[in-house]
This record gives sequence, C-alpha cells and structure tokens, in this order.
Amino acid sequence: MMQEMSPLRLPIRSQTDVVIARGHGMDMALAMGFSSIIATQIATVISELARNIVLYAQVGTITLMPLSPGALASNKGVQIVAQDNGPGIPNVKQVLNGGYSTSNGMGLGLSGSKKLMDSFKIESMLGLGTTVTAVKYLYAVCN
Ligand SMILES: Nc1ncnc2c1ncn2[C@@H]1O[C@H](COP(=O)(O)OP(=O)(O)OP(=O)(O)O)[C@@H](O)[C@H]1O
Ligand SMILES: [Mg+2]
Repeated sequence: MMQEMSPLRLPIRSQTDVVIARGHGMDMALAMGFSSIIATQIATVISELARNIVLYAQVGTITLMPLSPGALASNKGVQIVAQDNGPGIPNVKQVLNGGYSTSNGMGLGLSGSKKLMDSFKIESMLGLGTTVTAVKYLYAVCN
C-alpha cells in the first residue's frame, strides 16, 4: 500500500524560501514517480513562481498538491499553486507571450513555466494579488 502524500503549504518571503520550495517540489515529484528530468522541470517552475512572489509581491505561499483521484493512473500528477496578495499582473496575455519584464529580467519565467507544464492558469486582480495554478501529469499523453 502506497503512503498517501499530503499537500505542502510553504510560506515564501525570501530567497531561502525559494530554494526550500524548490527542494520540496523535487522530492515530491521523485516520490510520485516522475523521472529526474521532469522532476527538475517541476522544481524549476516552483522556483520561478516563488521567485516572482519574492520579487513582485514580497510574500505569498506555494502549495504543492499530489493529485491521485480515484484509481485512474492517468490522473496522477502534481499541482502547484502560487498565491500572493501583491500588486497583480495588469497584462497577463503579454506576460504569457514572454519577453515582458518590469524588473530587467528575461521575462521568461512565466512563459517558460507554461511550456513545461500540462496546464497553466494565471488569475490576477490589480491591487488584490495573483494566483498561478499549474499541473504536471505523471502519464501525460504527449510531452
Ligand atoms: N506574482 C506576481 N505579482 C505581480 N507581478 C508579477 C508576478 N509575477 C510576475 N509578474 C509580472 O510579470 C512579469 C513577467 O514575469 P516573468 O516571471 O515571466 O519574468 P521576469 O520575472 O520579469 O523575468 P525572469 O525571466 O527572470 O523570470 C514580471 O516582470 C512582473 O511584471
Ligand atoms: Mg520571473
């Protein structure tokens, strides 16, 4: 009988927290059976989302949620939710196209992360905050 993995809710407020979240993501992905290449990609996405929290919202949370609904192996995966109550993103479409940055960055954190995941959704309200929800499935049909 496999041990049920529980969600991890990680506070993000410093570069140290970014590194810690990245490590938890790596461990969880490997424990779920992802290859080390995919686990590294998942960890990279967590790191990019956490880094954005520190840079643009100062504080927030990353929640790592193992998905294993029912008996369907194809539904197994890991969900990443990055939440903050920062300034919000005024131009989500532009940001997802890549190359847009307000911090002299590459502007590739979010667009690159989207490419690495199976689903990637940004909900943002100006002045209220941002929630990014991303999922990677263990047995995706194509990737
Ligand atoms: N959590 C957030 N709250 C508010 N604005 C954000 C948030 N995350 C991203 N942004 C905005 O979206 C832009 C693009 O983010 P993205 O991560 O793609 O690139 P970047 O952080 O500028 O550079 P890098 O390539 O180093 O990640 C940011 O410059 C910032 O303006
Ligand atoms: Mg970024």
